[in-house]
Amino acid sequence: MRVTIGDLLELKRRGERFAMVTAYDYTSARLAERAGLPLMLVGDSVGTVVQGHDTTVPVTLDHMVYHAQMVVRGSDHAMVVGDLPFMTYASVDDALRSAARLFQEAGVQAVKLEGADEALDVVRALTVRGLPVMGHLGYTPQSVHTFGRQIVRGKTVSQARKLLDDALALQEAGAFAIVLECVPAPLAARVTGNLRVPTIGIGSGPGCDGQVQVWHDLLGLFPDFVPRHAGQYAKLGDLATEALRAYAAEVADGAFPCDKHSSALPEDTMRALLQAVESA
Ligand code: KIV
Repeated sequence: MRVTIGDLLELKRRGERFAMVTAYDYTSARLAERAGLPLMLVGDSVGTVVQGHDTTVPVTLDHMVYHAQMVVRGSDHAMVVGDLPFMTYASVDDALRSAARLFQEAGVQAVKLEGADEALDVVRALTVRGLPVMGHLGYTPQSVHTFGRQIVRGKTVSQARKLLDDALALQEAGAFAIVLECVPAPLAARVTGNLRVPTIGIGSGPGCDGQVQVWHDLLGLFPDFVPRHAGQYAKLGDLATEALRAYAAEVADGAFPCDKHSSALPEDTMRALLQAVESA
């Protein structure tokens, strides 16, 4: 049985914080599942950390369906949330069609979308049809061409007031949780206190109900780049490079592969086989 919206609301009610991580394939989903994380996000950050783009804008719905399918196959208990990518929810009709693909073809349990305002109608349309929606406020990477690299949102009184109003409006429209990205920590805590539904922070301090991190940041897969909001719990990038160097060196000097890595038959069978091959 997978984690439900009710389970998340209950965690908030009990004041128990929870962790979410992005996952983009079967292996990462298996590992996150093994670690017992209740929530996985198939984020459109796939565009930057997996596909190597500068922004999430090039990510398509086909990409998201493909990655979400793998994550759903690799998980059995976690709730899997799939991002609706850039411009796939610009109208209610687009959103219904796009979300339907993520639910039907990939098997996600919820979708996430960025912003409020014109997205509120979309949230209502999806949730009244039984498709759970997670909101995303603060820094919204799909709007990079509007906000540029001004990452921290809610720095002025009007921005802070708008963030609070948007969070309430998303909740009223039916969102079951809201990601707060790069929101000043005291403001994120205030938003969290004002909502019935859980907030999930990234770069927004400890006052949120849950936290979300990007897989590659959390595990240190990019040794040369650690975003300020990243909690780095391992340095797998360095470990992987060391392992690859050791492998290449052992291939070069003949230490790999040895007998235990090589296919074999019992010695006399092998001898007879080679003799037969030679005389054939
Ligand atoms: O796409 C993503 O990974 C996200 C998280 C940063 C919240 O939206």
